[in-house]
Amino acid sequence: MCGIRTLLPVRAGTLIRLVPPAPFATTEALVTKVFLQTHIVRGGIWLGGLAPLVVLAGTRRSLSDRAGLLWADMWQRFGFVALISVGAVLISGLWLTWQHIGSIPQLWTTTNGLILLVKIILVLGMITAGAVNSFWLMPRIALARHADPAASLVHLTLGHFPKVVWTEVALGVGVLTALTVFNGSARVEATGQGAPPVDPGLSTAGVVLSLTLAASLYASAKASDALARHQIAAHA
Ligand code: HEM
Repeated sequence: MCGIRTLLPVRAGTLIRLVPPAPFATTEALVTKVFLQTHIVRGGIWLGGLAPLVVLAGTRRSLSDRAGLLWADMWQRFGFVALISVGAVLISGLWLTWQHIGSIPQLWTTTNGLILLVKIILVLGMITAGAVNSFWLMPRIALARHADPAASLVHLTLGHFPKVVWTEVALGVGVLTALTVFNGSARVEATGQGAPPVDPGLSTAGVVLSLTLAASLYASAKASDALARHQIAAHA
């Protein structure tokens, strides 16, 4: 046992030596790489989860009443995954936007800025559609469940819910289409120069903005639960 403990630091030391030296010229380059990967993976999980779920929801015509309950749980669980993904996409998107956009007017005075602006508007539409499901449909599902635990929720979970999700998916396809024509930095397009090095003031602002965003997403999840409880209490 003692021998293993002594060997562990040696083993860790040899493993660390196997890691190649950082291939990134600057910390910004490393952060951009990490955020771009996070952005792509989380965006993929969000859109890649929504689309198959909504297609699956429309495939079966004759369903038992229990299907409604099952789908209520599925939408709720996916809602949590989507919330984490939205947070990650927005926070990483903020960094990438700083890298590519030098000033707000570049969003409409350059081609790449305009494409990004369209993409951001589409994403805001997706978030609004998700909010309709969280703040309007989820509380109604909770209320119907509370009023009659044996109630069929099929019309809510497989009728109304997928309609809103289809809107999200259509907007998501718009986001992907915008990506195919996005071709680099609006900063470079406008001024011929990339993003300057990040100073401590900007990093602090970024951290504060990201924490505020995370806190507001958490608060919105809690508000959706509170709304459901409030509706149940009001109908009791
Ligand atoms: C459903 C939501 C989103 C998805 C699926 C998504 C997906 C992607 C993907 C796949 C890329 C990589 C493109 C490439 O490397 O050529 C990308 C790049 C980018 N995204 Fe998003 N994105 C989403 C939302 C956002 C939002 C909300 C913002 C802004 C706040 C944003 C800002 C950017 C920027 C600036 C880039 C360029 C990064 C680069 O090429 O270096 N994205 N996005």
